[in-house]
Amino acid sequence: MAQSPTAQVPTTEIDDDPDGRARFDELIAADSRIEPRDWMPAAYRKNLVRQISQHAHSEIIGMQPEANWISRAPSLKRKAILMAKVQDEAGHGLYLYSAAQTLGTPRDEMFQALVDGRARYSSIFNYPTLGWADMGAIGWLVDGAAICNQVPLCRASYGPYARAMVRICKEESFHQRQGFEILLELMHGTPAQRAMAQDAVDRWYAPSLMMFGPPDEESVNSQQSMAWNIKRFSNDDLRQRFVDMLVPQAEALGVTLPDPDLRFDEATGHWAYGELDWHEFQEVLGGRGPCNTQRLAHRRAAFEDGAWVREAAAAYARKQADAAEQAA
Ligand SMILES: [Fe+2]
Ligand SMILES: [Fe+2]
Repeated sequence: MAQSPTAQVPTTEIDDDPDGRARFDELIAADSRIEPRDWMPAAYRKNLVRQISQHAHSEIIGMQPEANWISRAPSLKRKAILMAKVQDEAGHGLYLYSAAQTLGTPRDEMFQALVDGRARYSSIFNYPTLGWADMGAIGWLVDGAAICNQVPLCRASYGPYARAMVRICKEESFHQRQGFEILLELMHGTPAQRAMAQDAVDRWYAPSLMMFGPPDEESVNSQQSMAWNIKRFSNDDLRQRFVDMLVPQAEALGVTLPDPDLRFDEATGHWAYGELDWHEFQEVLGGRGPCNTQRLAHRRAAFEDGAWVREAAAAYARKQADAAEQAA
């Protein structure tokens, strides 16, 4: 498809524009929105491009583990729901690439950074989907964690990002419900189906908790993002909120959360959870997870296979423009 034109925004900012800075500080202090044409510090712009493009890549790469099961869904209804869900994720990626483009970074550049392994995406999508119950566990846990992360982003200080998140969050809620419902149905099924559901939860639970990023004391970008009203809660706060939400839902499902240290802490009023394997997280993030190579190779191949569509769209656009010119 033809690429949309990149907004004419400078990618390097003169950081000593006193009026611009005063206005920016004022907007942030008032918890107001920064829009593409507003002056913004170069570091704010850079931080947003990193976060939004990383988020866009996660949506697009995140289509792969589930698309893997579209052709093997157990019924027509399940197939239709899963297809709709995977298409939603493509839409989320497109909203987010568009939001990042308003900051002056061309989409081609973001794509190249992804396939070259220079840009990151959520580590969760480098785990394999081994069975149908994984579709349930992904919807319930992965989309569930995404909602916890993303609802506060609807109030992010950068306007185009915040507005994209509002639409995305509505769809993520549907994704989580469909995942929960898949697991619920399996948990009401045969012993083999219940075992399949539990096995999927066992494999996706810890990686979904790691989706909130490293513990607060190791999170390098968090402090600044919070000062700029991009991020509203710390990684650990969001993770805690997620665990507190999961425990009653796991009980309703009849699945066991695979953490022997999980216990209710009367003093804090929260569910305390066990240590996560941060070494594994860093390995997967560093490109050494079970499916990293496969995910990027697939993305690259999909882009190359789609070259004829982009060429055809560009030729059609040229033809239309020529016709309009002749008619004028
Ligand atoms: Fe999404
Ligand atoms: Fe989703």
